[in-house]
Amino acid sequence: MNPETAHKVTLWGLRLAEKMRVLPLVMGKVPSDPVEILGMKFPNRVGLAAGMDKEADTVNAFGQAGFGFVEVGTLTPRPQPGNEKPRLFRLIPQKAIINRMGFNNEGIAAGVENIRSATRFRGVLGVNIGKNKITPNEDAAQDYLACLRAAWPVADYIAINFSSPNTPGLRDLQAAEPAARLLASLKSEQSNLAAETGRHVPIFMKVAPDVTDEHIAELSRVFLDEGLDGLIATNTTLSRAGVEANPRHEEAGGLSGAPLT
Ligand SMILES: Cc1cc2nc3c(=O)[nH]c(=O)nc-3n(C[C@H](O)[C@H](O)[C@H](O)COP(=O)(O)O)c2cc1C
Repeated sequence: MNPETAHKVTLWGLRLAEKMRVLPLVMGKVPSDPVEILGMKFPNRVGLAAGMDKEADTVNAFGQAGFGFVEVGTLTPRPQPGNEKPRLFRLIPQKAIINRMGFNNEGIAAGVENIRSATRFRGVLGVNIGKNKITPNEDAAQDYLACLRAAWPVADYIAINFSSPNTPGLRDLQAAEPAARLLASLKSEQSNLAAETGRHVPIFMKVAPDVTDEHIAELSRVFLDEGLDGLIATNTTLSRAGVEANPRHEEAGGLSGAPLT
């Protein structure tokens, strides 16, 4: 089956199985192994990374399947179609995937509405946010701030995706100066929202793996100076190390799976 169709069918099947309450029978019992991080109580250590449930419409099902947390998104302020298909490729012998989805999503408002209806989910809910493709990098902070405000009431944590390789120029925001500017505006809005709502929602920056030691040192300094709550490591890689034997390694996009691990 075409990989993107398989993805859609899987999500559809999970939603159906959840409605019929059969997932625990198929998945078996998930051992309880609670962890507390920054006040968030994770029922276990296994979570679902961003990009699987982009629209947040399958949260109940992933919860019933046993995931301790689900990170939905990436969601952007306005809906956008993402890149042209095909945009998802399997590299089966290498246990890897290349994707260049490009933040296909129905927009943050639709995502938030879906999260609100996921009333049976008991795990930790992360909302991963990004900027629209048409938003220039100079205005990127406005996109992230709009999503931060929209996601605040429904999120246990918020992940800032500034490391996807599939939105042109996005990774430029990871240079020390733009990263510091972006994080400063996010932290300031986080304080405003916490004061308004009486609730603190931690902000995590999701970083790319394609960084030099020097860049890691610079970013670490920025994150410490700005008081970042946490890091998510990592997004997909532009490297093709370990998959050169597969003709699909020439597809543009981010590589994930075994070679990245
Ligand atoms: C098809 C696909 C779509 C993805 N979409 C997103 C996304 O929208 N936002 C994001 O932050 N990461 C996205 N990712 C990256 C994953 O969240 C994860 O960081 C990456 O796949 C590395 O982990 P893994 O090797 O365990 O898959 C995507 C990955 C894949 C394979």
